[in-house]
Amino acid sequence: MTGEALARARTCLACHQVNRKQVGPSYQDVAARFAGNPDAVPILANAIRKGGRGQWGAVPMPAQPQVSEAEAAELARWILTLKP
Ligand code: HEC
Repeated sequence: MTGEALARARTCLACHQVNRKQVGPSYQDVAARFAGNPDAVPILANAIRKGGRGQWGAVPMPAQPQVSEAEAAELARWILTLKP
């Protein structure tokens, strides 16, 4: 599955869009913030599965336990390709 299809299947796109902020930050903004960070994939994969708060605004992201570790890494790699 491509990153985008996986994001759709795991309902990430209910809260995120590629190019504009919705409930969560746009994936382009995430990619821009983490550009050049060698640990970006593990950091983001962990954030995807565990959720997070306080990094982007007042709304927290709930944990996503339906996402496997391999899928989280795949989603993180896809998001990082979206840097504008
Ligand atoms: C219920 C809404 C919601 C869903 C569903 C959701 N997110 Fe999020 N996401 C958020 C919010 C809100 C934030 C910002 C949290 C913060 O400020 O720390 C966020 C943050 C992120 C970040 C940035 C993490 C960081 O540390 O900077 C990534 C990457 C991300 N989400 C990916 C995903 C992926 C992939 C999925 C699907 C498996 C997903 N999100 C599902 C709302 C959501």
